Amino acid sequence: MEYLKMYENEIEAMDITMSPPANEPERQYYFIKKARGLVKEKERELKRPLTCHITTFGCQMNARDSEKLLGVLENIGYKNVDDETADIVIFNTCTVRENANQRVYGHLGQLKSVKKKHPGMLIGLCGCMMQEEDVVSTIQSKYKHVDIVFGTHNLYKLAEILCDAYLSNSMIIDIWKDTDKIVEDLPVERKYSFKSGVNIMFGCNNFCSYCIVPYVRGRERSREPKAIIREIERLVADGVIEIMLLGQNVNSYGKDLEDNISFAELLAEVEKIKGLKRIRFMTSHPKDLSDELIEVMKNSKKICKHFHLPLQTGSTRLLKEMNRRYDKERYLELAKKLKEAIPDIAITTDIIVGYPGETEEDFEETMDVVEMVRYDSAFTFVYSKRTGTPAASNPNQVPEDVVKERFDKLLKRVQTISREQALKKVGAVEEVLVEGMNEQDDSLVSGRMSNNSIVHFPGDADLCGKLVTVKLVECKGFYYMGEMLGSAE
Ligand code: SAH
Ligand code: SF4
Ligand code: F3S
Repeated sequence: MEYLKMYENEIEAMDITMSPPANEPERQYYFIKKARGLVKEKERELKRPLTCHITTFGCQMNARDSEKLLGVLENIGYKNVDDETADIVIFNTCTVRENANQRVYGHLGQLKSVKKKHPGMLIGLCGCMMQEEDVVSTIQSKYKHVDIVFGTHNLYKLAEILCDAYLSNSMIIDIWKDTDKIVEDLPVERKYSFKSGVNIMFGCNNFCSYCIVPYVRGRERSREPKAIIREIERLVADGVIEIMLLGQNVNSYGKDLEDNISFAELLAEVEKIKGLKRIRFMTSHPKDLSDELIEVMKNSKKICKHFHLPLQTGSTRLLKEMNRRYDKERYLELAKKLKEAIPDIAITTDIIVGYPGETEEDFEETMDVVEMVRYDSAFTFVYSKRTGTPAASNPNQVPEDVVKERFDKLLKRVQTISREQALKKVGAVEEVLVEGMNEQDDSLVSGRMSNNSIVHFPGDADLCGKLVTVKLVECKGFYYMGEMLGSAE
């Protein structure tokens, strides 16, 4: 892809007989060039191309980070394969809930025997889990077959870390506690040619009492608006028509920048980019959702009609304990404002069940919000104790059987409402971005509507990446079957 080769001149200009430059990203250009030589040498030795694979856990932010890692690996000369037996396998980890950690350990256990049969294989670990000291010491003592461990703040250093790993026999561990740096202008390999995530800020300052993210992603750092616009313009020139602006709390974008710019103002600037058709963003914290943002969305032709507004709990008492800085009434008011301004908007959410001290009354408050907002879809989570967060030391942990009962009740209700919401659209004609072939039936393609719903309809591979109009013929619960009417471009 053109985009992957964007920094070729800069990389080629590096003189690797000299010592590496101190500045970024030049330093990484130097190590990319150096690593290319090392990869070529290995390929000559093995008489075959070297392969790489990245397994990604967690959120959109991690998915985007993996595209950056893959951009560097492919640039160095690795061929991307869909197989955890590749010459280099990287796990980009998440630690937001306990089961996320367990899955990584599971994969690592399996890879032990793979590596025995495949000497020279490199296993790398990065992402949020690696920012936790006890995880790194577990890896050091129990998973000695791991070669590289790095964190969320220095993933741009992959080429440099790889060069170290080629020349070393012991585990390389490079973790930073925090950073104020944003390193840009390195190669990226997108999963989709026609859509892309775009980081607008990193880190989180909110310290919700249950959440590990601020500890593993550091403080909020906004990217300069110019850098964001330039990146989107380049993406559009490379065929992208839909972008998703990414941040843990996009509504606080710009607060740390010198030139005062709000998220709503950034959106208005992005809207002006010619050739860009759709804009999404993730995630919005209710505490900072402004009227200005609702107004920009209302007047926009490009911002998709979908708002992810995490609730966590409907109980004002627990919201306070969670340090969420809104109450039930304020949340309901925001949902109402959104629906009034943009009548066909889909509202989705995240809900935690079983936060320490949650009573039956607290849970009923959550159910009440679910009834009032009528979410188009909701991610429901059982509270997971994250060591290091304030909620983990709360002695009032809710018994497992109580949590399970509440969770099942909530899930059932949420699913019924989603289905009812989805049914309302049957018969409508929607603009759909075709994302790929249907996984089960190759006479069908699958696409996404502005409100984030999925629709499957007869079509062929040529439609991928195109905007088309589709009539929603049948609702299958969470998705639709449709019929294409024509192009929407
Ligand atoms: N920044 C986003 C959320 C990122 S984490 C926001 O504030 O909305 C995604 C979701 O994981 C959260 O919304 C929350 O519902 C869930 N989550 C976070 N920590 C959790 C924990 N300890 N146990 C269970 N769910 C958790
Ligand atoms: Fe976690 Fe809260 Fe930050 Fe979201 S806003 S990442 S839930 S601390
Ligand atoms: Fe997980 Fe890190 Fe995202 S903890 S949810 S991958 S920011």
